[in-house]
Amino acid sequence: MRLTPREASPRRYLMCPPTHFKVTYSINPWMDPTKPVDLPLALAQWEDLQARYVSLGHTVELLDPDPALPDMVFAANGATVVDGRVLGAKFAYPERTDEAAAHRDWFSRNGYPEVWVPEHVNEGEGDFAVTASWILAGRGFRSSPLAHHEAQEFFGRPVIGLELVDPRYYHLDTALSVLDAEGDEVMYYPDAFSAGSRAVLARLFPDALLATEGDAAALGLNAVSDGRHVLLPQAAVGLFAPLRERGFEPLGMDLSELLKGGGSVKCCTQELRS
Ligand code: ARG
Repeated sequence: MRLTPREASPRRYLMCPPTHFKVTYSINPWMDPTKPVDLPLALAQWEDLQARYVSLGHTVELLDPDPALPDMVFAANGATVVDGRVLGAKFAYPERTDEAAAHRDWFSRNGYPEVWVPEHVNEGEGDFAVTASWILAGRGFRSSPLAHHEAQEFFGRPVIGLELVDPRYYHLDTALSVLDAEGDEVMYYPDAFSAGSRAVLARLFPDALLATEGDAAALGLNAVSDGRHVLLPQAAVGLFAPLRERGFEPLGMDLSELLKGGGSVKCCTQELRS
């Protein structure tokens, strides 16, 4: 049990309302185009998340949704921002290709002087997670290992490549979550990673919170932390007590409709790190 209280720090997030969200194609095992989506419910759930961020003192910037891009609500994938510098995304599937330019345009219009157009496939914060010491980078399903090298050169921070092996956890942010970016604290689901990558994670994060299969399958690792509050899918019930023991305040969110697209809290949230 941790005795010193955790401190939240104010964050800036970029989100995109699910105005045109639907599941008409399948690029991950969660997406079943025959299952109907309740769009008004999706919007209400997303608005809850946005309102929660604002009530915690965070700033939420909004990206205009495009009717031709039904996955655009998953704003985490559109870029990675560290030290105010923007590494653009390059999507693995043609259905999402045009999201990258929409994000780059937003950054250019909003005063970000450095917006890098990447050479290699990277799906933004879907596969890049930023801790104090490293940028953790997923590969195996979406982002290319060459993009890891590209990110390291661009940000000048050490990038640790991690191999994802289970198609349900196709992005790093479905299998690992940064809890404290100042203290290198994470939680993750070991079985989502190759044996070598599990060994790397155990070496870098010996005290990590390890998620069970059930909590991972509820997409419980698709969480956002401000250093104190951890917003996560409410169905990941097994994570609440261990988070509290570590001094965090877990806040359960219901994003059941967006789960039909294969995403939850983190997928909807891109952090703008200055
Ligand atoms: N349907 C989207 C895709 O498969 C979901 C993306 C979820 N985003 C995330 N950051 N994991 O690309």
